Amino acid sequence: MVPTVSSQSSQPDRLFRGLVGLTFLLAVTVIALGAYTRLTEAGLGCPDWPGCYGFLSVPQTDAQHAIAQQVFPDHPVEVHKAWNEMLHRYVAGSLGLLILTINLMAWRRRDRPRRLPLVLLGMVIGQAMLGMWTVTMALKPVVVMGHLLGGFTTASLLLLLWLRLANHNRETGQRQAYPAPPAAGVRRLAVAALVVVALQIALGGWTAANYAAVVCTQLPVCEVDWVSKFDITAFEPWQPGFQTYQYGVLNFDQRVSIHAAHRIGAMITTFVVLLLVWRLWRIGWRRHAWAVMALLAVQIGLGVTNVLASLPLPVAVGHNLGGLCLLLGTLVTCRALYRARSAAGAVEDHIAALPQTGFSQTCMKHDRSTASRPGQETLGGMTPKSG
Ligand code: HEM
Repeated sequence: MVPTVSSQSSQPDRLFRGLVGLTFLLAVTVIALGAYTRLTEAGLGCPDWPGCYGFLSVPQTDAQHAIAQQVFPDHPVEVHKAWNEMLHRYVAGSLGLLILTINLMAWRRRDRPRRLPLVLLGMVIGQAMLGMWTVTMALKPVVVMGHLLGGFTTASLLLLLWLRLANHNRETGQRQAYPAPPAAGVRRLAVAALVVVALQIALGGWTAANYAAVVCTQLPVCEVDWVSKFDITAFEPWQPGFQTYQYGVLNFDQRVSIHAAHRIGAMITTFVVLLLVWRLWRIGWRRHAWAVMALLAVQIGLGVTNVLASLPLPVAVGHNLGGLCLLLGTLVTCRALYRARSAAGAVEDHIAALPQTGFSQTCMKHDRSTASRPGQETLGGMTPKSG
C-alpha cells in the first residue's frame, strides 16, 4: 500500500473534530476577553481568586458589599470591573472543562490522538495558575506576559489538533493536494519567521504589562532620544519589591526602552516575514504568501493606530488578536511546508520501492522536475493515492 495523505482511521470523527474546533474558538474568545479585562483596568477587579471578594460571583446585594468592604478594605468594589474579570474567569473555566472533555473523549477511542490533548490539559492548568498569580501578585509583568504567551500557545495547540483531525477525515473521500514540496531553505525560513513572531509577541506583552504603550507617540521609533535613554534593566523579568504593579512601576526611560524595542522588533519581524512571503510566492505557495502578508499588514496597521490614536480600546484588543492571527498564520504555513515535504518523501520512497521499470523512473524524474517549478500547486502534478 502506498501511504495515503488522508488517515488510516476507520470512522469519520465529526463530533470530536467539532468539539476541538469549538474549543479553539472559545480559546480565542478567552484571549480577547483577557485583553479587554487588562485594557479596562479590570485585572484586579476581583482582588482574590478564584472567587470575587469571597463570593462565587460579583457581590450584588448591600449585605454582600458590606462583607466585601470588611474583608478587603483597601479594594472598594467596582462592579463593572469585577464583572469584566469574572466573565473572563467563567469563560476560561468553560475552556478548561472543554479541554478536559476532549481528553476524556480521546481516551474512549483508539484512533483519536491522546498526547496533544494531554499537553493541552497541562497548558490550561498552567494558565489557571498564571491567572491566579496575576491577581495574587498584583499584575506582576512577568506573570501577565506569561499568561498572554500561555493563552497564545493554548490556541495554537488547539488549532494544530483540529488540523490534524481535519486531515484524518475520510468522510468526503477526498485526497488532499499539497503544494509543491518546498526546499529546506524555505522550511527553515518559515521556522525562523515563527520564532521571530513569537519573540515579537513576547515583547508586545512586555510593552503592555509595563504600561509602556503611550510613552512614544511618534513614528517610526520614538520622539525622545531613545538611544541615549536606553536602559537594559527595563527587561529584568522579576522586578521585586512592589505591592502592586497596576499602572506600571518602571521609570520613563525604562518604558521608552521597552516601547522602542517593540518598534524595532516590528521592523525585524516585518523583514523576516516579508522574506518568507517572497520565498513562498516564488515556489508557487501563493495563497499562503497572501494570507501571511495580509495578516502582517493588518497587525502593523493596528499597531500604528495604537500609537497615533493613544490606544483606543477596540484597536488595542484587535492588536492582541492580530498578533495571535499572525502567529497562527505562520504556524499553519510552517506545518504545511513540513507536511508537503513528508508527503513528497513518502511518494518518492514508494516509487523507489517499485521494480525499476521505465514507468517508475519516469515518475521519479517527473516528480523531481515539476515539484520545484514556480507556480506548481500540487505535488509534482500528482496527488498521492492509495493502491
Ligand atoms: C509586527 C508585528 C507585531 C506583533 C506580532 C505585535 C504584537 C503585539 C502584542 C501581542 C502585544 C500585546 C497586546 C496585549 O497584551 O494585549 C502588543 C502590544 C503593543 N504593540 Fe505590537 N505588535 C507588532 C507590531 C507593532 C507595531 C508596528 C506597533 C507600532 C508602531 C506596535 C505597537 C504596540 C503597542 C503600543 C502595544 C501596547 C498595547 C497595549 O498596551 O495594549 N506593535 N504588540
